Amino acid sequence: MRLSRYFLPVLKETPSEAQIVSHRLMLRAGMIRQAAAGIYSWLPLGYRVLRNIERIVHEEQQRAGHIPMLMPTLQPAELWQESGRYDDYGKEMLRISDRHGRDMLYGPTNEEMITDIFRSGVSSYRELPLTLYHIQWKFRDEVRPRFGVMRGREFLMKDGYTFDTTKEGALHAYNRHLVSYLRTYERLGLKAIPMRADGGPIGGDYTHEFLVLAETGESEVFYDSEVTDLTFGDRVIDYDDVDQCAAVLEEFTTRYARTDETHDEAIFAEVPEDRRRSARGIEVGQIFYFGTKYSDAMGATVTNADGQAVPVHMGSHGIGVSRLVGAIIEASHDDKGIVWPEGVTPFHVGIVNLRQGDAACDTACEGIEAALEAHGLDPLYDDREERAGAKFATMDLIGLPWRLTVGPRGIANGLVELTNRRTGESEEMSVEDAVARVAAIYAR
Ligand SMILES: Nc1ncnc2c1ncn2[C@@H]1O[C@H](COP(=O)(O)OP(=O)(O)O)[C@@H](O)[C@H]1O
Ligand SMILES: [Mg+2]
Repeated sequence: MRLSRYFLPVLKETPSEAQIVSHRLMLRAGMIRQAAAGIYSWLPLGYRVLRNIERIVHEEQQRAGHIPMLMPTLQPAELWQESGRYDDYGKEMLRISDRHGRDMLYGPTNEEMITDIFRSGVSSYRELPLTLYHIQWKFRDEVRPRFGVMRGREFLMKDGYTFDTTKEGALHAYNRHLVSYLRTYERLGLKAIPMRADGGPIGGDYTHEFLVLAETGESEVFYDSEVTDLTFGDRVIDYDDVDQCAAVLEEFTTRYARTDETHDEAIFAEVPEDRRRSARGIEVGQIFYFGTKYSDAMGATVTNADGQAVPVHMGSHGIGVSRLVGAIIEASHDDKGIVWPEGVTPFHVGIVNLRQGDAACDTACEGIEAALEAHGLDPLYDDREERAGAKFATMDLIGLPWRLTVGPRGIANGLVELTNRRTGESEEMSVEDAVARVAAIYAR
């Protein structure tokens, strides 16, 4: 992509309405534009990041054996009347009526709809277990939408639903989700800690929220500092192996880590004092086993091996896809702008031409652009007639992890400069070496 042909409406001024750094940077970097309170357009740069996160979420879901599908944003009220949530949900639900006067709603979540799909399509225990998921826009008419995409009214969520004949089966699905979420967040360049959360009115011990520690987080959290040392890394896991998945859950949830809703001072006091931490965090996902709540209410049963009809055990598991864009920025920025992790960066590398119009510089930049593309990479080439300072400031703001700088003096000797956005370190090298280096970084 050439910057001269792109749409990147960066702001010089810091927008006054934005209270937290990720919101400020997303506006300044021309990633989003507010359409109404808590409702955003994703401009080209922001859209690229959102799509990258979606892609990683899809890959990790399917690696775990979960099946993608797509349910609509608008739902009929009847389904929610069946489960009893049509009245319970209150003002957070956006209610609409169509031209025939039928009550509809913009889905805040999809338990009812998926249960309806399930009951009409599955009848025997032999067809289980089953995990269906989608990535779809949700609407919740939040009282206080704020912090940009972090607490929006319209937001993109991955929500997955598990169906099992037994509680044991459903708990394996729960553990499998925990493992796949650990992998997902690490690929996004984040440390997200599973913390024991509140089961709400349904109760039960089987719900964890994944939190990214950040001062601007909306949740108050308490944990044993040892949980921050745990990493999943690139271990190989068999998602069908019940014991292996259970062992990962054990490893990541045994130490104290709770949100304020489940925090227990007495248990916390047993953690050695020098390891006790309280902090704030951003909830980027939640896993939840809720048994037969919806299958009972909506008559979703399967026949078991004895020919009896039994309600299915269900769980629902969410990842805040659009919120993650903000959460990643909260976790990865400096005073010059965003610093994208390589896994989600909107472009792999920026090319800065220090003297646009100089034949040698232009030819070199075009050659580098083509060579990077031949490696399957997406460079963003700043080919505008701008001062070097302005070009560097834009690249720093939009946060591409690597920058290649091409100037007349270096290129006379066949040299360009490769700069790491995070460390600020630069290294001079030949054009061929620079292209090979960047290709190798992303081949990892
Ligand atoms: N208003 C919102 N704006 C952006 N993301 C949200 C919002 N509400 C929830 N999410 C994301 O979707 C994920 C799953 O939603 P859920 O657990 O049902 O939300 P909540 O815990 O807020 O009721 C959350 O972990 C969060 O990352
Ligand atoms: Mg939640």
